[in-house]
Parts: sequence; C-alpha cells; structure tokens
Amino acid sequence: MRTHFCGLIDASLIGQTVTLCGWADVARDLGGLCFIDLRDHEGIVQVVAEPEQGVDGNAEVIAMAADVGYEDCLRITGEVRRRESPNAKIPTGQVEVVARRIEVLNKAEPLPFHAHENPGEDIRLKYRYLDLRTPDMQRKMRTRTKLVQALRRWLDARGFQDIETPILTKATPEGARDFLVPARMHEGEFYALPQSPQLFKQILMMAGFDRYYQIARCFRDEALRADRQLEFTQLDMEFAWVEERDVQDATETMIRDVFSEVIGVDLGAFPRMTWAEAMRRYGSDKPDLRIDLELVDVDDAVKGSEFKVFTDWAGVEGGRVCALRIPGGASLSRKQIDEYAAHAAKFGAKGLAYIKLSETGEVSSPIAKFFSDGAFAALLAQVSAVNGDIVFFGAGARGTVSDFMGALRLKAGKDFGLVQAGWKPLWVTDFPMFEWDEEAQRHVALHHPFTAPAVDSIDDLRANARTAVSRGYDMVLNGNEIGGGSIRIHRSAMQSAVFELLGIGAEEAEAKFGFLLDALKYGAPPHGGIAFGIDRIAALMAGTESIRDVIAFPKTTGAQCLMTGAPSPIPDAQLAEVHVAVRAQPER
Ligand code: AMO
Ligand code: AMP
Repeated sequence: MRTHFCGLIDASLIGQTVTLCGWADVARDLGGLCFIDLRDHEGIVQVVAEPEQGVDGNAEVIAMAADVGYEDCLRITGEVRRRESPNAKIPTGQVEVVARRIEVLNKAEPLPFHAHENPGEDIRLKYRYLDLRTPDMQRKMRTRTKLVQALRRWLDARGFQDIETPILTKATPEGARDFLVPARMHEGEFYALPQSPQLFKQILMMAGFDRYYQIARCFRDEALRADRQLEFTQLDMEFAWVEERDVQDATETMIRDVFSEVIGVDLGAFPRMTWAEAMRRYGSDKPDLRIDLELVDVDDAVKGSEFKVFTDWAGVEGGRVCALRIPGGASLSRKQIDEYAAHAAKFGAKGLAYIKLSETGEVSSPIAKFFSDGAFAALLAQVSAVNGDIVFFGAGARGTVSDFMGALRLKAGKDFGLVQAGWKPLWVTDFPMFEWDEEAQRHVALHHPFTAPAVDSIDDLRANARTAVSRGYDMVLNGNEIGGGSIRIHRSAMQSAVFELLGIGAEEAEAKFGFLLDALKYGAPPHGGIAFGIDRIAALMAGTESIRDVIAFPKTTGAQCLMTGAPSPIPDAQLAEVHVAVRAQPER
C-alpha cells in the first residue's frame, strides 16, 4: 500500500515520489491551499495540497484535502520537496510532500477526545486505541518492547532456557489473594491463577535445568496503585547451584547492560544495604537514594524530656523515636505542617511533633516546653539543625514510625525539589525472615515461604524466629522495588519447619505443597533466583510515573478494563456449567 513511512521522510528523498499511509493528525484549510499532518507509527510529515499549472489546477486533490478530518485514514501519493519554513521540532521538518493524489481509506467520526488535549485517564482507557495511537504512547510502548528484546537477547546468549509454566494451576502464595477459575470437570473445585511461577521454577531446578527464565504473567488480587496491576509481567529467573552473590552479580550485570542498551544510561556498580540499615536511615525497604535526607534516631536525646509520647517509646524494645531534618523547611506554614501531619497519619502516625527554626533563630515548636534548655540544644545539635530548618519527629512502634517518617522523607524530597536527577540503584539484603502479625498472633513470611533462612539449623531458626534473617534480596531503583528474590530452601525438613512456623500445619502443608515437599526429598540442588517487574522497569525507562502507561490494556485502580467493560456478569446457565452460583450480598 505504501512506499515509505511518514515519520522517516527526509531530505534524501527530495525529488522522489512517495506513497504514504497514515492518520490525519491535523488538517488545515487555508482556502485553496491545504496542509495535512500525516501520522504513522514512525512520526509525522507535512503534506500540502496546492494549486498547480494544468487543466484543473489540482482542484480534485485540494477538494479532498479540504474535507479531511481528524484521524481519517489516508493514502497520499506525492513528491518530496524542501520546506520553505522548516520545523525544527519534528525529524521530518526539513521537507514536505506535495500531494498528487489523496485517497480516504476510512473516514473517522468526530472523536470523543482529541489527541492534542489531555482528556483524563478514564476517557483515554475507554478509547485506548485512540490513546495508544499518540506519539507519546507509541514511544512508551516501544521502550517496553526494546527492554524485553534486550533482556531476551542477554539471557539467550548466556544459556538461560525459556520455559513456560501453567496459568491454570494451584495457589502459590506471594502475599496476595488468588484469582480462581472454576473447574467444569471437577464440580466444586478451582484452579488458581499463578501469583508467580515460584514453585514451578524451583521444581525446574530439581528437574535438572540449570538456568531458567520466563517472561511470565502474574495474577494478584490486591489493591491497585500506580505501580501495581492485577496482572503484571515478570522477568522470572532461577539458577541451580548458586549462592546469593551468584544471582545478584549476574542479574546486576544484566540490568546494567540492558539500561545501557535501551536508554544509554550507565547505572554503575550497585551499592548494597541491609534491610535494617535501609529502615533505620530511610524508613523504607526500597529507599530512594536520589533524596539526600536521612532519619536520625534520637532516643537518647529525648529520654530525659517530659514529653510522654517520646519517653514511652525511647530506648524501648520495638519502639522508635526519630527525627527528619528538612533544610529550608522553616518556610512551611501552619497549614502546610498540618498537611505533613495528615500525610504521616495515612501511614499510621498518631501525631507529628516538630521544631521550626526561623531564619533569625526563633523557635516554634509544640514540644520545646518539654525540654530543658540544655537538652533542647543538644537535640538540635544531634540532628544538625540550623536556622531555616524544620525538624519533624516520630515516636511509636518501630515499624509504624519508620513507615510514616519514610513517607514524610519522600514527600519533603518532592516538595522541596530535593530529588536529584539521575539513577540510584541498590541491593537491599538481609531481610527479616518473618513479620509478627499481632492480630493473627502468628508469623507471616516477609518474602515468601520458600525463602531460605540465613541459619542452617532448624533448632536455631525455631529458637530465634522473631529476629531470624532470610536469604532474600530486592533490587531497588530510584525508590522502586524493581526485583525481588532469594536463595530457596532446598531441604524438605527445613521447608516443613518454616511452614510450621508460619502456622501451616503438617496436614495443610501436605494438601497445598505436598508435591514440593516430595520433590525436595529426591535430590533437590541448592538453588535461588529472582523476578523483575517488567512493567516497573519499562515505566522507569520511559520516564513515566504509572505502569499503566507501558501496559497496552491496563485496569483502572477500580480493577476494571474500561474498554471491554470487564469484569461483567455471566448468565446463570453458563455459571451452572461450572457449578457456580452467585450469592446475593447480605444487606449491610
Ligand atoms: P515479588 O512478589 O517480589 O517476587 O515480585 C517480583 C517483582 O514483581 C513486581 N511486582 C509487580 N508489578 C506490578 N504489579 C504488581 N501487582 C506487582 N507485584 C510485584 C515488582 C517485584 O519486585 N516469586 C517471587 C520472586 C522470586 O523469589 O524469585 C516474586 O514474585 O517489581
Ligand atoms: P500534644 O502534647 O498531645 O499536643 O502533642 C505535642 C506534639 O506532639 C503535637 O505536635 C503532636 O502532633 C505530636 N505528637 C503526638 N504524638 C506523636 C507521636 N507518636 N510521634 C510524633 N509526634 C507526636
């Protein structure tokens, strides 16, 4: 149908006749002279329909051009010539195409929105095909393609075997709810969609494969955010006969190589930080190291004060009192400070004490009265506060304080323009093995239940479960968890012991994971791996905040596909076939 792509017409083609296909991005009728910006996946070129010497002076082409509307599908044949007034903003800006023939291949109806305005995400998602047509979305999706191609090339060159694992399967716990699929041939039974290929990839190692990868779709029924979808894509990897550094060094090289290839960025060597250090300094297990602000523990400096909230938690096991100094923060008004407190409250803060030091050294603080002059000065000195700063304080249960102070650090970083440009990767290591769930009164796995503990002995693990460290690790980039993995348990007895510590009894373990416990008994090699969030990495590379921008057909935060209308009701007859009846919601 065509000889060239619109976006690739350049000066080398001057004098040649080309046939182009594309959408009318913009059409302007200047009365007897018409301009059409013709767009395809490569970009835009200007087409002009103008009067010519000859029998009818090109009247038919001009009439066609005058009738063109937004997003009409056109085929245009014409001659490339140099433009009188070049447009430096587009790659084809040196040239234009003088139309000799215009065909309307498909007329577009008036559009629900125009690509040159920002209509809001709901409309974009409903008419996703129009949205994806825009050069910006084309660019983002192409970045994703390049990422996946580069990863595959890297892995294929190093002997990783690409193996598919089932989508209809048994539950693999990764901490979210399962999506269930009723089994028509087994009344009352269900398949689960995989939250990840975790157990299959481990079994592949036991099955004699040395290095596996899969670009795998994962399904997790969890609350959606900018960086979370119900179904998302992992680069899933597993290695036999490895320790932590084998996996980390290989995949760090892979990520470095791929960033360099796809977006020309050198990530350098990744620093390493234990989970405990990350929580202490940044209040996060995925610290954004582009922000040069740190939390400072002030237990000792507040112990002698008369502020009960501080003294209740200072130096107490499971408690934390820490400070965040924001240089220049004294400019915050009362109202803005309240906004910071409200932000902290979303992450569990019961209050947010502060000390504001004006440029001239005046103190404004709801807690100054609880300190002697000397103790107050010592506290300010410990956090290196100077005039013009504000210092926020958090006190409470350790995890909660880290969470809300970490969240404040991110907010302050953004609000005060303290996020440096560039790329800050790191490894976070030495995660706790378990978290204690107060409500359920039991341990939950911080990574997943197949992650090996740092100790080899089951007795040691049982004796020190609350403080046990795992062999899990995460790769973090600019405050995003882009990958997570671990060395796995490869002995059946240890796996049973961990299930037991997680409150999964022998019977339940056998019913859910019997196949794994069996496989571990017949010569399972030491193994480990990692999975990377392809959507997150693509979004970072494409320079967008939301992974929805690098997923062709994403769900909204309300878990719907606005284009197809999924999810949708199913007729009773079809439900009956799969032995399912919908229960009316009880009155609330
Ligand atoms: P994990 O649960 O940490 O590990 O997932 C690995 C990576 O996948 C990405 N990710 C997501 N991306 C988009 N939407 C989601 N809902 C979502 N959830 C996770 C993150 C994360 O780092 N089986 C283990 C891996 C292993 O141990 O090898 C696993 O799935 O970038
Ligand atoms: P109050 O004496 O209760 O008015 O509290 C004095 C200051 O301490 C207020 O600014 C509160 O927001 C703050 N505050 C209260 N609880 C905490 C807490 N757990 N952590 C940090 N600041 C708090």
